[in-house]
Amino acid sequence: MAESKPRVWVSQPLFDDIVARLAEHFEVDATRDVTAWSPAQVAAKLGEVDGALVTLNERIGEDELAAAGRLRAVANVGVGYNNLDIGALESRGIVATNTPDVLTDTTADMAFALLMAAARRITEGERWLREGRWTQWSFDTLLGSDIHGSTLGILGMGRIGQGIARRGAHGFGMRVLYHNRSRLADGIERNCRADWVDFDTLLREADHLVLVLPYSPATRHVIDSTALAKMKPTATLTNIARGGLVDEVALADALAHGRLASAALDVFEGEPAVDPRLLALRNVVLTPHVGSASLATRRAMAALAVDNLVAALGRGPRAGRPPTPVTGVSSPGTGKR
Ligand code: GLV
Repeated sequence: MAESKPRVWVSQPLFDDIVARLAEHFEVDATRDVTAWSPAQVAAKLGEVDGALVTLNERIGEDELAAAGRLRAVANVGVGYNNLDIGALESRGIVATNTPDVLTDTTADMAFALLMAAARRITEGERWLREGRWTQWSFDTLLGSDIHGSTLGILGMGRIGQGIARRGAHGFGMRVLYHNRSRLADGIERNCRADWVDFDTLLREADHLVLVLPYSPATRHVIDSTALAKMKPTATLTNIARGGLVDEVALADALAHGRLASAALDVFEGEPAVDPRLLALRNVVLTPHVGSASLATRRAMAALAVDNLVAALGRGPRAGRPPTPVTGVSSPGTGKR
């Protein structure tokens, strides 16, 4: 009798031609429409499969794993994996993987797009124009702040942070400061033309601060009212990492009262819901979590996630050696960038 194929669940529509590769090895339960799976539905799906290919929409913790008796691998499509409780997965011997590297440059590009939109008031200007308020050119319309020659502050200096630093230093002649738990090797600092500073110095000195650090309970609201009060009132803040890094109420307050010039947010604590206080402000650029959303990069992410799942379930040329496993993390909700 032919051996039955392992079964895998793909939680959201990706690219059909890429997902189709899973069918060479597995029986595939592929979701056809974008779906808001409830925790109970995720638990039920995980109870039926050997592997799952999931996105940041699906949280997988103790409860969702309660009935996952045969689950052996979870491949996350995304570099951040704060949706996964790595400790809970590790304790059951379930392999977790993510998709680093393939999205580094695309996400660093987007950080710059957001930073520039905030500094030069691009979306604010577009809204103003569309509202028919441009009746005559005037010298002082929408005065913003410069990028070139300014100080770029980067909080979190992983691969994406380094990509942002290189763009700032080499492309725009910015002075680059960063803060990270650990200081980078001299060679990397030189390549990025970036200097390590303590957190307070970063806040005080940055003309443009970009958040690109992992989200975990320890980094929740790292930008709160105290941190915002240390920033220059002329500064911009860009968040390309996870919404929970910023206390959005404190941010909205600082933006509304001129204690911070502008912000650009691609991520939100309660996404897809966005705090109405932010929606009401003109000096904040808002995008719907699309940092890595170029076609080529999203395809590369899907392909890497498929390769990871195939290998983690012991199939294909890299059987047992998934290209990008999440390793060495055992606390819940820790995402790496
Ligand atoms: C997206 O947010 C990712 O972590 O890849």
